[in-house]
Amino acid sequence: MTGVTVRVPAKLNLQLAVGPPRADGYHHLVTVFHAVSLFDQVTVEPAGRDGVTVTGEGADRVPADHDNLAFRAVVALRAAVRDGGSGTAGVQVTISKRIPVAAGLAGGSADAAAALMACNELWATGLTQQQLCEIGATVGSDVAFALLGGTAVGRGRGEQLTPALVPATQYHWVLAFADGQLSTPEVYATLDRLRTAPGGAAEPGLDAPLMSALRAGDAKLVGSRLSNDLQPAAVALFPALRKTLTAGLELGALGALVAGSGPTCAFLAANAERALDLAVALSGAGVCRSVARVSGPTPGAAVVSASW
Ligand code: C5P
Repeated sequence: MTGVTVRVPAKLNLQLAVGPPRADGYHHLVTVFHAVSLFDQVTVEPAGRDGVTVTGEGADRVPADHDNLAFRAVVALRAAVRDGGSGTAGVQVTISKRIPVAAGLAGGSADAAAALMACNELWATGLTQQQLCEIGATVGSDVAFALLGGTAVGRGRGEQLTPALVPATQYHWVLAFADGQLSTPEVYATLDRLRTAPGGAAEPGLDAPLMSALRAGDAKLVGSRLSNDLQPAAVALFPALRKTLTAGLELGALGALVAGSGPTCAFLAANAERALDLAVALSGAGVCRSVARVSGPTPGAAVVSASW
């Protein structure tokens, strides 16, 4: 085989409930992941030694060395199958980015998931999705979900997944990309500081009304139940987001929230036409760097081409 290309989606969290910090520094989460139609593409090809090239949206801000999450995924997969007898020789990883970097959309985790799936194919290692998810979880909290896609409940660090049994309703979103980035660890640390209540944060729980809105496929209800515990911390670090969120709601969004640790804002629209109107109005309002229309749920990482 001479190369494998995998397409992988960005994610939103329709609910992101964050508990107190754990002993390992991570936070216990209950989250509702939702994959949306904004994709990176990752190609792996046999090479004398491992290497990474990044092109596209924000490429200059992605490490092209051992710190790259896709690169770390390749190393983790090779270590996991070392004794399996398969050939796991060097690979050149080429990442073509459309998911903005450090934007709360899990772009880095998505690239890691795509690299795992592509190398599993290239090396014919034959690992199951579950096995790839377990390896992915050692690389990043959101990698397993990027493999799974759809809509799923995440627990633990976010890596323990249960697919949500929901109808095939498509939701129409407008993403407002910010002029800047947020560091995920810094957003979590800010949340811890903002939580001054004695005893700290409560253990997080799944939002039952959100799940029943998803089961009913009711966009209006879903919009009214969007929630993100990280949002106050993201807004404290990036105050301009308050204006972006307000503008989207005033322009008719069914709901609005900061995506993950931000600074991207996500707005739910009633249908594709409303999403177009909202996207046009938001980009005219001067409250973000650019906008994109996406829909979800979308499947997880998938091989789009393999050449021999
Ligand atoms: O797992 P990942 O590398 O994506 O996480 C990035 C950072 O986000 C972690 O280093 C940690 O600071 C924070 N995090 C957390 N609790 C989680 C997931 C992430 O505190 N459940």
